[in-house]
Formats: sequence, structure tokens, C-alpha cells
Amino acid sequence: MIRVAVLGAGRIGKIHAANVKNCPGAKLVVVADPFGTNAKDLADKLGCEHTTDASQALARADVDAVVIGTPTDTHVTFLLEAVKLGKAVLCEKPIDLDMEKSLWAANEVKRLNGKVMLAFNRRFDPTSQAMRKAIDAGEVGAVRQVIISSRDPGMPPRDYVAHSGGIFRDMVIHDLDMARWLLGEEPTEVFAMASNLVDPTIEEFNDHDTVMLQLRTASGKQCHINCCREAVFGYDQRMEVFGSTGMLLQDNLRPSTIRRWTKDATDAREPLLNFFLERYQEAYANELQAFIRALQLNAPLPTTVDDGVQALRLAEAALRSVASGRFEKV
Ligand SMILES: NC(=O)c1ccc[n+]([C@@H]2O[C@H](COP(=O)([O-])OP(=O)(O)OC[C@H]3O[C@@H](n4cnc5c(N)ncnc54)[C@H](O)[C@@H]3O)[C@@H](O)[C@H]2O)c1
Repeated sequence: MIRVAVLGAGRIGKIHAANVKNCPGAKLVVVADPFGTNAKDLADKLGCEHTTDASQALARADVDAVVIGTPTDTHVTFLLEAVKLGKAVLCEKPIDLDMEKSLWAANEVKRLNGKVMLAFNRRFDPTSQAMRKAIDAGEVGAVRQVIISSRDPGMPPRDYVAHSGGIFRDMVIHDLDMARWLLGEEPTEVFAMASNLVDPTIEEFNDHDTVMLQLRTASGKQCHINCCREAVFGYDQRMEVFGSTGMLLQDNLRPSTIRRWTKDATDAREPLLNFFLERYQEAYANELQAFIRALQLNAPLPTTVDDGVQALRLAEAALRSVASGRFEKV
């Protein structure tokens, strides 16, 4: 039994805590959150202990593993505290918004022989897994191009945007990780353009709401990523992998496959699953299970701090490209 502490009882912490509770081989010991009754409310719901002190929760002798779902600027502190005490960690993305600090933290994790998995949940989505398996089985031959469209249903609150680190580090980082994973080869060059077509006032934070990227690997494989903070029809998550002997397409998911014919519309389908908590519900559960399973088997963790660093490196290259208007080396 892997005994787990969950740090942060916000949007993602609630998901992780519930998944720990439901994961065979795991026991949810404690949730920690310093604000209001966040921790108590979640603990009461899931039947575990609670505290306002995350450092105390992760240091408990009856805790083997720690899930970090706190704000990004706290990740490095908690993950190193946990690693130094010999606890395994599942840490939310990104490691940190600062490249130097992320690199330093990743090196510390390696120096201390820490077990840290980065929470790139989309790799654990059943449809994405099926795509990766099909590529591994040679169904599409050699991958030539990957095309990712990733659009949120609506702008996050201004306060979130102000502290998010910008669209590339906060949102596109998931797509950059998918690009690396599906291309099977590290991108070495990035071109990015960025606009404010939804809310021009976020220029104040040096941020953008609509971006398009091109990535190229050393052997010439290509990836095209489209992201926008607002899609009025819902959470738009589609991917295409084009190879020498075929193509794979991942479409949006809906609550059911029902189609309707009425006087107003024909062949109308249900709205898209609204946002990441719904669309990637299974992915989050699978991610948690993969973490626990790897610890039980003492097997390598499926994602690492290096994945976190590399995705951030691509985000940084994209930002440099927006400024220079040219392809930038990674
Ligand atoms: N993988 C994904 O799909 C995904 C989705 C959303 C968020 N995230 C990441 O998860 C992290 C949290 O995001 P969120 O949307 O859940 O934020 P949130 O604001 O909803 O939740 C964060 C929680 O952490 C608590 N907190 C703040 N400081 C703390 C501390 N010192 N100790 C313990 N708890 C503390 C807050 O009170 C809050 O309840 C961010 O790093 C974000 O990038 C990842």
C-alpha cells in the first residue's frame, strides 16, 4: 500500500485526492491546504486527515508519496522537501515558471536520486495512448507531421492570467509535451506567432491569447500547434499524426454519440465535453494509477523532471521566436 499526501485542495488537488482514494494499492492519508476550510472540506468528503501545513503533511512518517497540486511557485520547495525525506512525488506542471530554477530543481532531484513524476496528464488519456500505441506498432510508418489544435472554452480570470506565466508556459506546455511524445524525437527549432484576439487588455501582462507554433526536429519531422484561450463551442482538443504509411486522427469527445435531426438542425451532435476536468477525467485517474503502479513495482516513472524541463525549454524558445519573428533554436 502506497500512503499518499495531497498538497493543495484546489481544482486539480481535488481531482488527484479523489483519484488516490479510488486507486487500488494507494491510501489517501492527508490533504493539505492553508486557506479557509479547503483541506477540511475535501478531507471530510474523502474520509482522510487534513492540515493547513503542507510541509508537515509531506514529512509524516506514514506518508510514502506526495502529490503536489499547489500553485506553481510552490512546486520546487515542496518537491525538494519531499525528495530529501525520501518520498516519491507526482508534481503538477510546470516545475516552475523560471527556466533556471526548473533546471536547478531537476538537477537536485537527480543528485538526490529522487523519484519525481511530472503530471503531463494528456499522455495518459486513453485516446492519446491508443495513438502512441498505433505509432509504436508501425501502423502509420515513420511519423512525418503532428498537428495539434488545443483551445480552451473561455478566457481564465484576469488574476489567473496575471500569475500564469503566460500562455506558452501555462497552456501550450501540455501541447509541447504531446508534440515531443508523438514525434518521438526532440524538436530542435521553434517558430511562434502570438496575437491578442480575445482580450487585448492582457497585453498588460505581456501575454497573448491566440498562438500558432511550428516545431522541427533534427531529422526534419514537423509539428504544428494551434492554441487559443477561447473557443465558443467548447474545449477543442484534436490531434493528427501523419506518417509514411498512414494517418491517425483524434477528435473531440462528447458526453454521448447521439445525433439529432430537428427543424433547426440536422445531424446535430452534443456539445463538447466542457473543459479539462471533464475531458481528461480518465487521463488524471490513469496518471495517478501509473504513478502508484511504478512505485509498487519499483519501475521507472513514466514521466520525469527532464520532461518538465524540456517542455519549458520549448515554451521559452517559442517566446524568443515571438520576439524575434524567426525560428529559434531550442
Ligand atoms: N495537469 C493539468 O491539467 C492541470 C490543470 C490545472 C492546474 N494544473 C496545475 O496545478 C497547479 C494548481 O492549479 P489549480 O488550478 O488547481 O489552482 P487552484 O488555485 O484551484 O488550487 C491551488 C490550491 O493550492 C492551495 N495552496 C496555496 N498555497 C498552498 C500551500 N503553501 N500549501 C498547500 N496548499 C496551498 C490553494 O489554497 C488552492 O486551494 C498549478 O501548478 C497548475 O499549473 C495542472
